[in-house]
Amino acid sequence: MSAGAESDTDGDETRDDRPRDSRRVFFALWPDPETRTRIARATKDAVRRSGGRPIAKDRFHVTVAFLGNLTPAGFEIASAVPPVRVGAFALVLDVVGSFESSRSLWLGARSVPPALLELERRLWEALTAKGFVREERIYRPHVTLARRARPVDEEIVPVEWPVAELALVESLPDGRNVHYEPLRSWPL
Ligand code: 2AM
Repeated sequence: MSAGAESDTDGDETRDDRPRDSRRVFFALWPDPETRTRIARATKDAVRRSGGRPIAKDRFHVTVAFLGNLTPAGFEIASAVPPVRVGAFALVLDVVGSFESSRSLWLGARSVPPALLELERRLWEALTAKGFVREERIYRPHVTLARRARPVDEEIVPVEWPVAELALVESLPDGRNVHYEPLRSWPL
């Protein structure tokens, strides 16, 4: 995975333009506390050198499928989609990159485990069958580390993350920021 002019997500961390009753949700890999600490340690220097606004470690995650604002009915339908049984896998996070479009700095994997790609594909297959629409861009799994960041060229100590669950996470307004609340999880 290379750093550079990748397309990125909307990065609308501070906007709360949701229709009433809607819930902004996404499926994600949600790290255990130890993995969070290891990610924070491994990337501390890179984040500092990027000059960006760091993402707090309790918000680290890898999005698998971003659903956006859902009605209560849509939320129920999406929640009923998992489990997707691809088996547990190890995700080795070993490269720092950046999305120029949103000036975000991220941690990713030089080698993405086939099970993660299969999870994303099968999850979206099931979601699409229920009427959800996947954006066309290529899936680039990453943990966002900082926003308004400059690209950095930094070697990091790889972090091996044992992934065994898929989580459904809600993005909630929190002052001028957002808070991510894991709602449910399913074994892989
Ligand atoms: P990001 O960290 O690269 O911005 C909650 O916003 C999560 O969903 C974040 O991981 C964010 O990715 C991702 N996200 C936000 N908007 C998205 C979109 N339109 N498509 C895919 N992922 C999105």
